[in-house]
Amino acid sequence: MIILVIASQKGGVGKTTVAINLSFSLATRGHRILLVDTDPQGSVGLSLSRGARERYGFYDAIAGIKTVEELIIPTRLAEFKLMTSGKSEMFLDESAQSDAQWSDRIKIFFDNLRGQDNDLVIVDTAAGIGAITSNILKEGDSVIIPQQSEPLGVRSIPQFLKKIVGIRRRGSEVSVSGILMTMVNPHQRESVESESQLRSALPSGIMFQTSIPRDSVFLRASSLGVPVGLLSSNPVSAAVAFDQLAAELEIKLGLSKNMEKDHGVKGLLD
Ligand SMILES: Nc1ncnc2c1ncn2[C@@H]1O[C@H](COP(=O)(O)OP(=O)(O)OP(=O)(O)O)[C@@H](O)[C@H]1O
Ligand SMILES: [Mg+2]
Repeated sequence: MIILVIASQKGGVGKTTVAINLSFSLATRGHRILLVDTDPQGSVGLSLSRGARERYGFYDAIAGIKTVEELIIPTRLAEFKLMTSGKSEMFLDESAQSDAQWSDRIKIFFDNLRGQDNDLVIVDTAAGIGAITSNILKEGDSVIIPQQSEPLGVRSIPQFLKKIVGIRRRGSEVSVSGILMTMVNPHQRESVESESQLRSALPSGIMFQTSIPRDSVFLRASSLGVPVGLLSSNPVSAAVAFDQLAAELEIKLGLSKNMEKDHGVKGLLD
């Protein structure tokens, strides 16, 4: 089981959109995915299910009120399961718990998840790296850093990478899967320039080749409570971008695909 965290210093860069749509793409490619919402605002749950506020979830497991087994919600897709952020309000004051307490509770949470049969646990986080997200990163195997393609946006990257170095110094083995450009608008000069500046300033391996286009379809999808891949039987280009991202991740994380095994590959002339 691989724990993949979606995190960024800045808010509103597309973390939740990436978490939902990447989870869906990986699930349709045969990987067993559990998407966990750790944002107290509960964005994943709110995007995908109307009754999310009423559900128990991540913070109720952290508070010791529920077991992880009780919190996993199946979806229409057998390979895609969810955990909402929950009802417990212990997160409202991050400083009410010491860092060591958060660290212990979050470690126990992920240790318990290891007993479940998921290939990947994808974790959506709140903006910034507070005590909760830094301890989630500490338990994580890898992190995707969504980055909005706008001139000021790129300044937060060095700061974020420094925090990852700090977390690794505390004994974590978390690695950076990659920086993912989001909301790229090919018709806007500033957007295209900030993407190419970042690509030339950073080692090529640290950035995903795929970037996510700015597309109003994301708003429509979240208002309907679905990933973009479910919007129509003809793949919209935004869904294709997530499929391409999923393929890149399979290589980066060494994920073996289960599709051939499950569906059986037939020769062209059989
Ligand atoms: N590629 C995109 N094209 C157009 N709109 C997008 C795109 N990605 C995200 N959005 C929209 O931008 C807003 C912010 O996106 P999202 O909620 O995914 O960001 P976030 O990083 O999770 O925010 P927060 O830090 O508040 O959790 C949402 O309204 C979302 O629908
Ligand atoms: Mg979010």
